[in-house]
Formats: sequence, C-alpha cells, structure tokens
Amino acid sequence: MWAAGLGLTMVLAACGQNTAAPSSGGGQESAAAPAADAIKVGVILPETESSARWEGFDKPLLQQAMQAEGLAPDIQNAQGDEQKFSTLADGMISSGVKVLVIASITSESGAAVAAKAKAQGIPTIDYDRLSLGGTSDYYVSFDNEKVGELQGQGLVQGLQGKTNPQIIEIEGAPTDNNATLFYNGQQRVLKPKYDSGEYKLVQSQRIEDWDNQIGGTTFEQILTGNGGKVEGVVAANDGLAGAVITVLTKYGLNGQVPVTGQDATPDGLQAILRGDQYMTVYKPIKQESDAAAKLAAALAKGDTAAADAIATGSVNDPTGNRNVKSVLLEPQLITKDNVKVVIDDGQVEASEICVANLAATCSELGISAA
Ligand code: BGC
Repeated sequence: MWAAGLGLTMVLAACGQNTAAPSSGGGQESAAAPAADAIKVGVILPETESSARWEGFDKPLLQQAMQAEGLAPDIQNAQGDEQKFSTLADGMISSGVKVLVIASITSESGAAVAAKAKAQGIPTIDYDRLSLGGTSDYYVSFDNEKVGELQGQGLVQGLQGKTNPQIIEIEGAPTDNNATLFYNGQQRVLKPKYDSGEYKLVQSQRIEDWDNQIGGTTFEQILTGNGGKVEGVVAANDGLAGAVITVLTKYGLNGQVPVTGQDATPDGLQAILRGDQYMTVYKPIKQESDAAAKLAAALAKGDTAAADAIATGSVNDPTGNRNVKSVLLEPQLITKDNVKVVIDDGQVEASEICVANLAATCSELGISAA
C-alpha cells in the first residue's frame, strides 16, 4: 500500500487508495434519470488504481455529458483486467448499446473489442488511449506528446540553478500508447540536455500497468543504486509522482527534488502546494467527456457528417497504418502559481485540497472555497 502518508484527501475519503475520488469532478451521478427512449451507449474505463482520474473525473463527467446529449450511458470500469474488459464489452453489445466508448488497457484487447463491436455494426470511439492496430473510427484525447513536452519543460523550470542534475525517469505502462507519446514529448525537451551533458540520465524505466506501488519500489532501487543521488524526477502521472515522493520523503529529499506529474488530481495538487511535486499537467476532462458524448450522440444517430465535423483532427496509428479522425485537446502546465486554474475550472474543489496546513497556502494563492 503505497498511499500511506500521502496526504489528507485519502484519509478524509476513508478510501486509502489512489482511487480516492474527488467529490466534484463537476458531475453528479444523481442527475435526472435519462428519458425512457434515451439511446444506450456503453463506456468502458480501464483501471481505477493507475490514476484517480478515471473514477474521480471521467466517470461522473461522462455520465453528465452523455445524459445532456439525451443518451443513456452504461459506464463500467475493467479494473485493469483485460478479461473483464472483454466481458463488459460483450454484455454491453448484447444489451443493445448503439455506440461503445473504450479506454483500453492494452491496444490488443481494445482492438479485439472494437472488432467485435464492428462485426455487430456498433461504432466505437477510442477514449483517451488509442488502440494501435484497432478499428475505431474516432479518437478523443489530448495532444499527448504535448503533455510530455510540458512535463519536460516543467522539469527544466524546476531544475533552474542546478548544475549537471541527475535525472530518474519513471514512465507509464509499456502497453499504453499514451505512455510512449508522453515519453516522446518529454525527450524533445530532455534529450538535447542529456546529449550535451547538461543533465545526466540515471535511468528511465517504464512501469507495468502504471502500477503506483511498483513505480515506488522501482524508483527506490534506482535511487539507492545511484548512491542516493537524484536531482530531478520525471514521473509520468500524479499517481507515480506520489509513489516517488513517498520514497523521497523516506530519504529526506522531498521538496528538494522537482518531480513532474499529470492529471491534476487532488493528491497531486496537494503535493504541489506542499512543495513536494513541482508540476502537473491539467487535462480538462470536462472537454474530453463533452467531445466523447457529442461524438457518441452523432454516431448513435448514424450521422457521420456531424461526427466528422466534431473530429477535425487526425492521429496516425503506425501499427494499423491508418489515420484516425480525432479530437485532440490542449493540456496545460500547472505549478504552484497556477493551481487556481484547476479549481476555477471546477475539476477539483478548493475544499478537497485546502485542508489542514494547506489552507494558509491556498489563501496566499487566492484559492478559496466557493
Ligand atoms: C492517461 C493518463 C493516466 C494514465 C494512467 C493514460 O493513458 O492519459 O491521464 O494518468 O493513463 O491511468
């Protein structure tokens, strides 16, 4: 259990996992029941433990956005189990969903589900993660290389004034195409610095399943293997950052070593306010869920012209050797100075992060409970 001591949110949520659900996420599952004739749409989310975003942000916001489009969403989480992912899809297909929205665990299992749906004439939308080699006609996500680039830029900012810093990189799952894109974006900024000798890369390690606990133990091994020396850490998301910070704290290094993150989770934002995490990447999930809901509504009505008008971007799937029509949203770099952006946008509530000794920091930053 890596979460011990990682902050008050978890304790308050009496949840003790990285799933500690932000109470807002802007969505209310108790929203008005869908009309009896509402069109069924199935949504499968990948995990709960790799990031607090899936249950905390995506689920309530997708629910709200789809209901607003007159759809009746059935939103399930595969809990990191590919077999369950496939079984959930089978159930949704036989229950008569008109569209399937999938955030895959791996490209292979995501592509298999998309192929099954296609065989039944059900269109699929890849949500957040592209299934390489898949058949989904649409993809809704963020500019994921840009996410990585912001992480690289954030690390560089946090390292200002340090000479020849030693860097450890804790990356996302090898099976998640996004993790590759984040890495590629980071390297646009960091590789020239490694190549020139300005920074020293100690080790870069991808973490199976984005498993936060493995992320922490892996980081600790690399750190001790390097004689306890580290000046900067790339952590691919807030969950991995939290695990890294737990280890840094154990060695008395937290607050001195900039750590990156992603997702603007309540725990990540609190770590930024405490000074333990340097940055996170804010991805407005409301925009992502709204886009997915609008696309799903168009496809459910068979209106591909309307869907094409929404998905004006395109990404290349090198495995399937095809371009996929996409909605690609803009991520934003968040440091202590602009944590307020995430609160003002409503993705996280001030009351979720401005607790105990962070209340004073919040008021200094002009963050107040609504
Ligand atoms: C998502 C991130 C998330 C990670 C782990 C990625 O595919 O884009 O937001 O932190 O998966 O769940």
